[in-house]
Amino acid sequence: MPFVVWDDAYKTNISEIDAQHKKLFEMINDLHSALKSGRGRDILDDILNRLAIYCDTHFATEERYMRNYAYPEYRVHKTQHEDLTRKTKEFYERFKNASSDITLELMEFLKNWLHNHILKMDKQYGVYLNLKGLK
Ligand code: FEO
Repeated sequence: MPFVVWDDAYKTNISEIDAQHKKLFEMINDLHSALKSGRGRDILDDILNRLAIYCDTHFATEERYMRNYAYPEYRVHKTQHEDLTRKTKEFYERFKNASSDITLELMEFLKNWLHNHILKMDKQYGVYLNLKGLK
């Protein structure tokens, strides 16, 4: 049973964005499976690296759409992207320095990302861009 399950509530109805969001679900579930089997630390490096790349590519995709369609909340949204990117990089630094066990805190951070960013901020621009004809 996956830790987080994609359903229609997460859809922005923009196919490229929904496909990218599903990748985030996969990464969270990969991490959760590894934690359950006691391999969390082994795959953290890979997951955190993938997450850092994901922040760059996914956020760039969304911000390009928002700029192209003059989304009024662009600045606020971009600031939240910068915050998520900074926190992801901080987790990576802490992991590399082995200063503390970050796994549970990271899972909480990722869960909040789904609930507080995708379900709120991303859904809002989804409605706006859908009305502009983007699917
Ligand atoms: Fe899907 Fe605004 O991140």
